[in-house]
Amino acid sequence: MDPSTASDVLTVHGGTALSGEVRVRGAKNLVPKAMVAALLGHGTSVLHNVPEISDVRIVTGLLEAHGVTVTRGAGPDTLILDPASVEAASDAAVEAHAGTSRIPVLLCGPLLHRLGRAFIPDLGGCKIGDRPIDFHLDALRAFGAVVEKRPEGLLILAPERLRGTHIRLPYPSVGATEQVLLTAVLAEGVTELSNAATEPEIVDLIAVLQKMGAIISVHNDRVVRIIGVDRLDGFTHRALPDRLETASWACAALATGGDIRVVGAQQGEMMTFLNVFRRIGGDFEVDDTPGSESIRFWHSGGQMRALALETDVHPGLSTDWQQPLVVALTQAHGLSIVHETVYEQRLGFTQALNRMGAQIQLYRECLGGSACRFGQRNFQHSAVISGPTKLHGAELTIPDLRAGFSYLIAALAAQGTSMVHGISLIHRGYEDFEAKLSGLGAVVELGVAA
Ligand code: EPZ
Repeated sequence: MDPSTASDVLTVHGGTALSGEVRVRGAKNLVPKAMVAALLGHGTSVLHNVPEISDVRIVTGLLEAHGVTVTRGAGPDTLILDPASVEAASDAAVEAHAGTSRIPVLLCGPLLHRLGRAFIPDLGGCKIGDRPIDFHLDALRAFGAVVEKRPEGLLILAPERLRGTHIRLPYPSVGATEQVLLTAVLAEGVTELSNAATEPEIVDLIAVLQKMGAIISVHNDRVVRIIGVDRLDGFTHRALPDRLETASWACAALATGGDIRVVGAQQGEMMTFLNVFRRIGGDFEVDDTPGSESIRFWHSGGQMRALALETDVHPGLSTDWQQPLVVALTQAHGLSIVHETVYEQRLGFTQALNRMGAQIQLYRECLGGSACRFGQRNFQHSAVISGPTKLHGAELTIPDLRAGFSYLIAALAAQGTSMVHGISLIHRGYEDFEAKLSGLGAVVELGVAA
């Protein structure tokens, strides 16, 4: 959607402490992958706790283009996926459904097993760095696939059944780990994956595959072993809750001096974030009553405290928690340091915060922690944040999903009115966020204020 159209602008009147309750459903970074895993099964799969977000709509379109029937189940958040009539999609159909998502790359393994062929259009996804797929392609080649460059994308072929192999990832890439998992489960023989990512969403995808009949073991040194099988069945699974959306609401409570209960959130996947949240000056309360799990987040009332933070792969501080935390740190007393070690260009969004009155300086050096891959290259991947600063409204254009929601948090914490353009990007990962904001007392209106 064109960011300049009125329906893609949200006017935010800041200065209100957000208070109330929101619900999070299944994780944006698991649900589409579980949907892709359904392609591997010889039976129907049922996925519960599915959020209404555009990433799910994009993958639904992609799967339907390949002959999978995707229908809504009895509950509003249930999908039923039937891969009985999987067929090759035209490259144009894949391209048409790829949208802004990077998910098409994960269809390769399942399609190579089912059809011997897969096509990857040039990928979308958030503009937070180069985001190459070399690890993915190297892994597919290691399984015996052939990768051919085409003008509009990549054609990948499996001349014969893919074979298990040993793959060591140069970096614990989430997507590349998923690529190997989704390919190894039906490959002939054993696959050993070294330096694998172990994010909660990866573990949940492994649970889905195990339910289908896969044999996967996770070892303590980031090694994952998969024993290939000849056949997988469908699964029934309830997706884990979205720890990234939950953290965004927590930072909104902190930055606006509010109190928000996030229904559906679970502590286990958020331990690192919860420690940071408490150290900054927030407080939280976990309710782990089965069936009514929630975490309540609030500003504890005292001065917020500056911190030195470094993002890392799990169980470190997730890079997807960085941007909302940066907004909260603009309200902390003192100098905070944020060292972004996962993506080389995920601090660019701070320029707009400075236009709102924040004082954030970016550096090429690795500040506040250990040296990372970007230290000797020309990337401003460390930030020093001086606070507290009074934020005022501004005109903002969203660069990526997480920065987008972080701009909303800044606009809500600011005095005055902001116009936030390109909010369709936020719909990729935050279900019904306008209604949730209004329900928390935020004064927001779609379109440019009259
Ligand atoms: C997933 O992206 C998530 N997206 C991202 O969330 C998340 O930030 C990221 O993992 C890290 O946790 C989805 O799951 C849909 P990576 P992914 O491969 O898999 C480099 C959000 O806001 N790399 O772990 O694409 C890459 O450039 C999104 O929800 C290669 O060099 O991330 C990056 O520096 C944003 N070559 C690092 O690895 C490759 O082939 C981590 O990327 C692949 C990755």
